[in-house]
Amino acid sequence: MISFLLNNKKMSIAQARADLTLLEYLREQQNLTGTKEGCASGDCGACTVVLAEVDDNNRAIHNQFANDLENKLEYRTINSCVTFLSALHGKQLITVEHLPDGKDLHPVQQSMIDHHGSQCGFCTPGFIMSMFALYHQAELPDREAVIQALSGNLCRCTGYRPIIDATLSVCQNKRSDKFKKTEIEIVKRLNDINDSVISTNNLLIPTSRQALAAAKAQYPDANVFAGSTDLALQVTQQLKSFDKLIALSAMPDLNQLVEQDHGLLIGAALPFGKIEASLLTHFPQLSELLWRFAATPIRNQASLGGNVANGSPIGDMPPALLALNAVIHLDDGKQRRKVVASEFFLDYRKTALKTSEWIEAIFIPFIHRSNLVRAYKVSKRYEDDISAVCAVFNLHVIDGKIHHIDSGFGGVAAIPATVLELNTQLQGKTWSSSEAFDIGKEILKQAFTPLDDVRASKTYRIAMLINLWKRFWLETNHSSQQIETRVVHIPSLNDESTGKHRHA
Ligand SMILES: Cc1cc2nc3c(=O)[nH]c(=O)nc-3n(C[C@H](O)[C@H](O)[C@H](O)COP(=O)(O)OP(=O)(O)OC[C@H]3O[C@@H](n4cnc5c(N)ncnc54)[C@H](O)[C@@H]3O)c2cc1C
Ligand code: FES
Ligand code: FES
Repeated sequence: MISFLLNNKKMSIAQARADLTLLEYLREQQNLTGTKEGCASGDCGACTVVLAEVDDNNRAIHNQFANDLENKLEYRTINSCVTFLSALHGKQLITVEHLPDGKDLHPVQQSMIDHHGSQCGFCTPGFIMSMFALYHQAELPDREAVIQALSGNLCRCTGYRPIIDATLSVCQNKRSDKFKKTEIEIVKRLNDINDSVISTNNLLIPTSRQALAAAKAQYPDANVFAGSTDLALQVTQQLKSFDKLIALSAMPDLNQLVEQDHGLLIGAALPFGKIEASLLTHFPQLSELLWRFAATPIRNQASLGGNVANGSPIGDMPPALLALNAVIHLDDGKQRRKVVASEFFLDYRKTALKTSEWIEAIFIPFIHRSNLVRAYKVSKRYEDDISAVCAVFNLHVIDGKIHHIDSGFGGVAAIPATVLELNTQLQGKTWSSSEAFDIGKEILKQAFTPLDDVRASKTYRIAMLINLWKRFWLETNHSSQQIETRVVHIPSLNDESTGKHRHA
């Protein structure tokens, strides 16, 4: 039984298609058609809804509208088109229909009107839900945070400035809303649900490694999934159907993050939204990669385990895991084993994972403070796009000489790959010398035979690889050569500053 609150109503689902998406459920079974379908692939944000979840840490916050200083629920956006129903268990699903308080629009809706943020209106419910989730974050957002929060929403006719202005204005002047007033009651109702046992006829939701092993043995053809941001595309884009699916969302070991003495042990099913803060604390150099990984609603669902298990040659995290010497922890319910990232990816979409196994966690060892680490992503769209080329370097220099260099690359081979020659041939060379740069450049020129495809040509990919190497060399040898690829400020009509843009 999957139990949750649909807006204010308790729902329990015992029977449903395993591959029923949340969007289908809302529009076709609940007649909640405020949530729209645009792309059905997580790219446009028309289907954005919010999941409110009891905050495990029950952390104290100090914002304008929390008199009791406690934020008891976390509000996160998700794309309902790529989400299966198991994601709902124990949570409150909030749709756009639920936002008004009687006849009064929610402040985010009113702000959208006041700032003329909608024309045809098709994208508007999705934007409203992203604004609503941001409205309930503890921090007062700045313009950058607003842009991040709206990064998964596309508007084809209004233009973004009024929508950004509407969001910034309302989120910087928050006041209590009906959700804040009923938060304690909702937490109680959700806690009651969380205590109940979960399972459905087609969607198996094991809660222990023994149960997961048994489910896999009983249904060997059933896919496991965490965030479903990859798997659901097979349903919505390739029109496949799955009779049985196994959700990893209730597996305790797969849903915890442990800060160990020597590194981070990240549960494979945890969404990026829940691991970003720890990752950025320990590996701030991954910030570009993490902030440009899909967009906020996808990151609120997509897991690191899914990104590794799908074995995609253009996944963003595998290059980072290779360069940081991560270790993949596998389990089959009886035996656990560990595989270093460099031995995990075997061939195109083929990994060291056996059919009886799943990824339990990923261990990323802490790096020496003085290591020079950079992670670069080149893609057509800044957010919400897969890499054409991804390169991650992890360099240890002692007294100006290269002691060790680890690397990871995506988009240039059939698998995410490392280039060992960079290490063997550069060890002992002076990092600032043009000799070191030239040796690396020649190695990378020869290292791969990339594909020509819609994302990029072979020539472009090789040129990009060499340019990223140059960027790394310049940035780490000359601090004044820090190269920004982001538009860091978008001026608004109300903004008095000149708003300089910085492009690469
Ligand atoms: C709009 C959009 C944008 C995207 N942008 C990016 C991007 O910028 N960068 C990027 O790298 N990816 C991107 N992706 C791809 C996807 O979001 C990621 O690969 C994500 O990390 C997958 O995680 P998931 O939990 O959703 O995987 P799922 O869909 O749940 O699973 C993916 C595959 O992995 C298997 N699997 C999942 N977890 C496990 C486990 N613990 N053990 C064994 N097998 C497992 C499943 O069986 C399935 O085959 C994007 C996807 C969308 C829809
Ligand atoms: S319909 Fe486009 S993101 Fe879901
Ligand atoms: S208002 Fe028409 S797509 Fe945004």
